[in-house]
Amino acid sequence: MRLLVCGGAGFIGSNFVRLRLRECGDEVVVLDKLTYAGRKENFHDFGEDPGFRFVHGAIEDPQAVASALDGGPGAGSPIEAIVNFAAETHVDRSIAEPDAFVRTHAQGTYVLLEAARERELRYLQVSTDEVYGSIEDGSFTEDSPLCPSSPYSATKTGADLLVQSYFHTYGLPAVICRGSNNYGAYQYPEKLIPLMILNAMHGDPLPVYGDGMQVRNWIHATDFGRAIGHVLEHGVHGEVYNAGGPDECANIEVVKRIIELTGAEESLIEHVTDRPGHDRRYSLSSQKVRALGWEPRVRFAEGLEQTVSWYRENEWWWKPIRSGDYRAYYERQYGRSLA
Ligand code: NAD
Ligand code: DAU
Repeated sequence: MRLLVCGGAGFIGSNFVRLRLRECGDEVVVLDKLTYAGRKENFHDFGEDPGFRFVHGAIEDPQAVASALDGGPGAGSPIEAIVNFAAETHVDRSIAEPDAFVRTHAQGTYVLLEAARERELRYLQVSTDEVYGSIEDGSFTEDSPLCPSSPYSATKTGADLLVQSYFHTYGLPAVICRGSNNYGAYQYPEKLIPLMILNAMHGDPLPVYGDGMQVRNWIHATDFGRAIGHVLEHGVHGEVYNAGGPDECANIEVVKRIIELTGAEESLIEHVTDRPGHDRRYSLSSQKVRALGWEPRVRFAEGLEQTVSWYRENEWWWKPIRSGDYRAYYERQYGRSLA
């Protein structure tokens, strides 16, 4: 296929592009604004592939979207589908500064939908289990009510509703794929798993929000990438597909496993003030996408071990982050500096 992948310089987007180039022989154009979370380093092993092209720009900018879709120097064949990963993705940042979340998720998604409508392209919106809110027992299905808690999840929910309106009103061939918590290589260290791995490796305190008994449903980024590809190829237009990981784990257990895998001291654990409006548990039922033939391949225990090894072996990737603006973010968020 010939794809426009928006937000392809980020964590899951770059894992997805790598899979599509290597496993499917796709041609891919990435459109990315390169926010703090988007990095050209994530293209290090495929940036020179003949089937790959990068356009620097924002999804809320119609001219940037047109130039990514319609060509320019090095343009290949016409694009068939848009896959939209582009988003502001950190819940804590959405609580501190929600404006970019509204702009990217509302205006940005709208601009992409208009471009898809004008050119009659297929459209896949990458979404999240957070649109359903928190669940005590059982798992969310695609029919569960939408009940987002944070500015991040509320604006992601708004984007999903806009996508569905373009299917209902204009017949746009659109699908939505909602993932649970992703982990793996190339994840920016503001998120739980890479933050804890790097802090543990450096002997920095491990800041666990509240009692640490919040539960997340972990999916490896390559499994989510394959689910997105599967929904793009086999999903029914107008439908939503959940893609949840095979394992759930309480945060404190995740942190203890990281301590074992890095050989850090358990005394580094520090319970800190809880996140405002913190969702207690996420859990997705993935029966609908499994019925299309997808299933996750990586169990959490094995994937976490591989992820710890990847961060150990790829200092070149994280060192510039951990010595740059991230330090100031860390001080604002946690009220202390990194070692
Ligand atoms: P990320 O923060 O690592 O990457 C986001 C990417 O989007 C970055 O490359 C950034 O530069 C780009 N971007 C941001 N605003 C943009 C804009 N206005 N225009 C163009 N590019 C822009 O995020 P991620 O974790 O890879 O998440 C990707 C998608 O998957 C998001 O839509 C997110 O909501 C969804 N998702 C994430 C998870 C998770 O656990 N990380 C789980 C389910 C769904
Ligand atoms: O569920 C899917 C979502 O997963 C995605 O849509 C989001 O983009 C992604 O950021 C993620 O959201 P979470 O809020 O669940 O992820 P985060 O890594 O920020 O936190 C995971 C859990 O760990 C959560 O319960 C908060 C807790 N936590 C997080 C950090 C950063 C801590 O206890 N301490 C921390 O320092």
